[in-house]
Amino acid sequence: MNEKKVFNLWSIVYGLWFDSMDKFIIHKSSLKGTVKISGSKNASLPIMAATLLTDEECVIKNVPDLMDIRTMIKILEVLGKEIKFQRNVLIVKAKKRTSGKEYVAPYKLVRTMRASFCCLGPLLAKRKKASVAFPGGCVIGVRPVDLHLKGLRELGASIVVEKGYCVATTKGLIGKHIYLGGAFGSSVLATANIVMAAVLARGVTLIEHAACEPEIESLVFVLKKMGAQVEGQGTPLIKVLGVKVLGGVTVEIIPDRIEAGTFIAASLATNSPLCIEDINPWHLTSVIETARGMGAQCVVGESSISVNPGGAMKSVNLTTLPYPGFPTDLQAQFMVCLCLAEGISLITEKIYPDRFMHVAEINRMGACVRRNGPYSIIEGRDKLYGAEVMASDLRASAALVIAALAAQGKTQVLRVYHIDRGYDKIEDKLRKLGAKIKRVKQ
Ligand code: UD1
Repeated sequence: MNEKKVFNLWSIVYGLWFDSMDKFIIHKSSLKGTVKISGSKNASLPIMAATLLTDEECVIKNVPDLMDIRTMIKILEVLGKEIKFQRNVLIVKAKKRTSGKEYVAPYKLVRTMRASFCCLGPLLAKRKKASVAFPGGCVIGVRPVDLHLKGLRELGASIVVEKGYCVATTKGLIGKHIYLGGAFGSSVLATANIVMAAVLARGVTLIEHAACEPEIESLVFVLKKMGAQVEGQGTPLIKVLGVKVLGGVTVEIIPDRIEAGTFIAASLATNSPLCIEDINPWHLTSVIETARGMGAQCVVGESSISVNPGGAMKSVNLTTLPYPGFPTDLQAQFMVCLCLAEGISLITEKIYPDRFMHVAEINRMGACVRRNGPYSIIEGRDKLYGAEVMASDLRASAALVIAALAAQGKTQVLRVYHIDRGYDKIEDKLRKLGAKIKRVKQ
């Protein structure tokens, strides 16, 4: 068979495979009621990696049941852990029998989820060696791991790249003053990786330009409960005093601020009053301020927020930034709201300049968005119209679901496996609020 025929055959198989995946069929909906937010995916993943730092039992509560969590469970099993996951409680123990090879995180698992790269720091600190597949590219743009490698090398790791794997070894990590700023500011998972390596290193580690995200604060909270000595979490300067050994822990995962923000966006786009519960409003200040800027009334409680959009939305200019700035993980969802706001809005993407894959799909629904490099100019329209659209990544798929709920008529959102990576029972939660959404299994 010649190359062209092989390519055509491959395209057909690939197309059939995609066509065979779940899709959502969504009709324009008004939402009403209360929604409870699940535990945070992005807080759970590094905390799960942190269990590699101890041989004792760890119990993690309020873990969302998601594809990414299931993938991390598989990785930890390969790395010598025995895991039970039931009703959002994860119990992690060391396997009784090991083969001595439990330091390799294979590509077939790592490639589906970049967060698995943060097993590198704890493996290196506890077992003195680690071999973790490079996660590779991503649809939201180039996502390098140079800061992870820089930090670990400064702590005394020797790192080589072998057959697509990052192979790291050390005779013992030693505390250091590390500057962790990159071209796009701080890095969440690099900070997590370096803190987890430093907690078992000899001496003091200072991490300058550390990420301040709540997920880092929650990771440090867990590490401290395990016996680590860390100060400064939630600020750009984290100080770690290494200890010899860490113990087991029982903890609860913080609420998912991105899921909460997604429901705020759904409320705005569909002009529906919603009460969003089981959240930490402190983690959502930039998002709540943006919603208020667009004209919504937001009443903030201790662990809830009531959003009342109250009619026509106003345009705003929005810039994604590291925490406490507006999160890049909510950019796509808020773009949909701005597509329906009065006037012209500007979105500046400062974390992932290429994270605009959703623009073409939203435009297919009648929106008017023009992308220019890291900027998108949005001309508000009265209406969006149902269409067949394709989800390109996790947050983009949430944005398309919101657009579909707001659009006239029927929308089909294809490739919803992306949304299953990061939203726990999204269609059930939406349906309870009155959304006309149906998952079609093919
Ligand atoms: C985490 C979140 C992700 C979110 C992102 C930014 C998890 C599991 N994922 O990803 O949902 O979108 O934070 O808030 O928590 N960078 C480098 N070199 C590096 C690492 C990162 O240049 O070694 C750059 C990235 O390309 C990006 C910026 O730094 O431009 C921030 O990325 P980073 O904070 O590392 O994202 P993640 O931690 O991978």
